[in-house]
Amino acid sequence: MTDLPIPAYSGPDRVLSGVQPSGALHLGNYLGALKKFVDLQNRMECLFCVVDLHAITAWQAPDQLATQTREIAAAYLAAGVDPRKAVIFPQSAVAAHAELAWIFQCVARIGWLDRMTQFKEKSGKHKEGASVGLYTYPVLQAADILVYKATHVPVGEDQKQHLELTRDIAQKFNHDFDAPGYFPLPEPLIEGPGARVMSLRDGRVKMSKSDPSDQSRINLTDDADTIAAKIRKARTDPAPLPESVEGLKDRPEADNLVGLYSALSGRTEADVLKEYGGQGFGQSFKPALADLLIETLSPMAAEMAKYAADPAEIDRVLAAGAEKACTLAEPVIAETKRLVGFWSDKA
Ligand code: TYM
Repeated sequence: MTDLPIPAYSGPDRVLSGVQPSGALHLGNYLGALKKFVDLQNRMECLFCVVDLHAITAWQAPDQLATQTREIAAAYLAAGVDPRKAVIFPQSAVAAHAELAWIFQCVARIGWLDRMTQFKEKSGKHKEGASVGLYTYPVLQAADILVYKATHVPVGEDQKQHLELTRDIAQKFNHDFDAPGYFPLPEPLIEGPGARVMSLRDGRVKMSKSDPSDQSRINLTDDADTIAAKIRKARTDPAPLPESVEGLKDRPEADNLVGLYSALSGRTEADVLKEYGGQGFGQSFKPALADLLIETLSPMAAEMAKYAADPAEIDRVLAAGAEKACTLAEPVIAETKRLVGFWSDKA
């Protein structure tokens, strides 16, 4: 060991993120992830995958999975991701993800995974009955990111701990295999008012596709009447909207709705409250929020329906993306295997 500083990663900036094809997408997925993808594709090299390997950590009907994968790809396109700028592909089409995940399973420690709160939430009281894949899920996520040496990862707040684990795995790999600066320590891109969209029925739990109540979320495919009705019925406390941002403290439902307004309009929360503070929620704030949502989501829903009617177009995008992603992952997995010491006829 020397006292020299560990060399930092010095490769190009690259973005990777993914969404599971395990059910209908909602507003949280849009604001926490998809909206950021669209912005980033103009600034950095981007890869966006549909993480079907992650989806099967919980049961997925085999006759539905490919359709669900196409639906997520269609949502990427409908949100504005441009396949000429970003690589869109299914995770299972690039074998290097699973290969690197195995190597990382031998780098990550059981104690690290035991701390993952998402596994605890998803496995609930019956953790013995959960799949092993659900437990090692964050290790595969690290492989998704590092197999492209991605430096930036746009995600919602709920993924923060998984990104910390990714950094720990990268650091331990670099150390164990005497490869300083080999894997980057990726930066999570979480900030912004849409990073943690909460349920419309309870401002203390996040909006989620697994919530049994459809009233708790806005689905990206909801029509205008459904959106308006869900916002009208969204839970609030009886007090009027506060005049300032400090007034949102300890008012989770109000905080969530004002945050949504801010994320969708691009205005600060303070500015939103300057207009609506002191008024009741139903007076003009909720109708204006519903209008904003409809304005944003209706064109996306229409695009998604168009792609659903033309799966061949989606398949072309996914096939071209898979080819490009394989080309990018290939040298990284080859070099990683060399560092681990596996046999190769090219050595
Ligand atoms: P998934 O499919 O559960 O979620 C997809 C994205 O949506 C974000 N999200 C939210 N953002 C704000 N508010 C919410 N209520 C909300 N609910 C979901 C998630 O944070 C995520 O960004 N583990 C990932 C998938 C994944 C991945 C990766 C992401 C697999 N490999 C590599 C980044 C890089 C997930 O949660 O998917």
